[in-house]
Amino acid sequence: MSLSFLFNLVSVVGAFLVGLWLPLRLIGINLPDLMTLGGDATVVVVAGINAYMSLKKLHRTTLDLVSVSLDILCLIPFSLITYAIYGEASPWTFYIDLLCIRHVSHIRSVLDRIDSLQPITYRLIPVMTFLPLLVHNIACGWIALGSGTAGTNPDHFLEYSKAIYWAFSTLTTVGYGDISAATPIQMLYACGVQVLGVGVFGFILSNVASLLARSDAARENHMDNLDRAETFMRIHDIPPELRTKIRAYYSYLWTHKKGYLDNSLLQGLPEKIQSELWLHINKTIVERVPFLKGASAELIEDLMHELKPRIYVPGERVFRAGDPGDALYFIHHGSVEILTRDQQVLATLSDGSFFGEMALISASPRNATVKATSFCDLYFLSRESFDKVTTAYPQFRIHLEDTMKARQAA
Ligand code: CMP
Repeated sequence: MSLSFLFNLVSVVGAFLVGLWLPLRLIGINLPDLMTLGGDATVVVVAGINAYMSLKKLHRTTLDLVSVSLDILCLIPFSLITYAIYGEASPWTFYIDLLCIRHVSHIRSVLDRIDSLQPITYRLIPVMTFLPLLVHNIACGWIALGSGTAGTNPDHFLEYSKAIYWAFSTLTTVGYGDISAATPIQMLYACGVQVLGVGVFGFILSNVASLLARSDAARENHMDNLDRAETFMRIHDIPPELRTKIRAYYSYLWTHKKGYLDNSLLQGLPEKIQSELWLHINKTIVERVPFLKGASAELIEDLMHELKPRIYVPGERVFRAGDPGDALYFIHHGSVEILTRDQQVLATLSDGSFFGEMALISASPRNATVKATSFCDLYFLSRESFDKVTTAYPQFRIHLEDTMKARQAA
């Protein structure tokens, strides 16, 4: 854990606690002495950390300088000074300390540094931090102004609950009207909270809406594709049997690949990371193709980088006898039939097998037709990639040649 992360974390937690504690103190809810002392100390810690971090920055903006000035102001123990002079801390000193609350906004920097944080959590935590703090502060402000028609109450808990209720209903612009503003200052305050509510709740609602939409981004993406396919089929009046096949394809894509066939979104990553990623993503191929298990790490890494996924539906031809040899295929999942020109089944290949090596090695047309007998999850190596890999790794070519000879002899 780096020092700056620790500073940010302490500053956010501290600012949050100050944001809860100071407004209570301002409305006269007296906390035990130890907590009051702890609260004062927290203000100093938060202001100190942030002043230090701003001053340490190499490029300071005017905003940074204003922020440092405010933090230095918070560092001066005004409450203690006024306590020493008047026998009690003046309320205006708390207003100065309230400036510390703004450092809660550093929560994003804290979250940025936490690996393995899901996007949904990244969005949810700030909302869940700012919202209670805002409602609490507005409620305390309402109590400080006399609580409107609800009036003051010696039972602090009841008074606070009513204020929270008012704050929520005003912020959400629901405004039941059972508690309303009674004095001009309360009316102005209520107007301010309503205006704030439009913005704040707009922000929160849009966040919640996008949170819900993104909570299952993969499914959303899949549903989008499915919607588009359905519209396309309707417009082109596609026959029912074909529609069923298309739906079956999407269903297979969802169950086996969560809707993502290509990994184009990873292509912006540096080469090295991409190689490692391909290795990881395609590792089941290595596990399933027997001869790859004993191959060198370099060969596997290069091979994985060149392999591209493709799905075939039951009955679909991968290629016909006589077609030019343009790729080598590995079966990740599913099965295919190798058929002669007169449709005799030569062999059935399944998970972990490969086919299409003969045309590539002997530079001749395909000697058989290959047809998928189930949904087939294949990875193919284009001719260019095949040439690249076999030139760099002759043992790969030798192994393919051995297999080719064994198949020809069969
Ligand atoms: P290719 O000729 O490029 O295309 C058809 C493929 O079917 C061929 O390569 C082999 O990979 C495969 N194949 C041909 N004959 C057999 C066999 N007897 N057993 C298994 N696979 C075969």
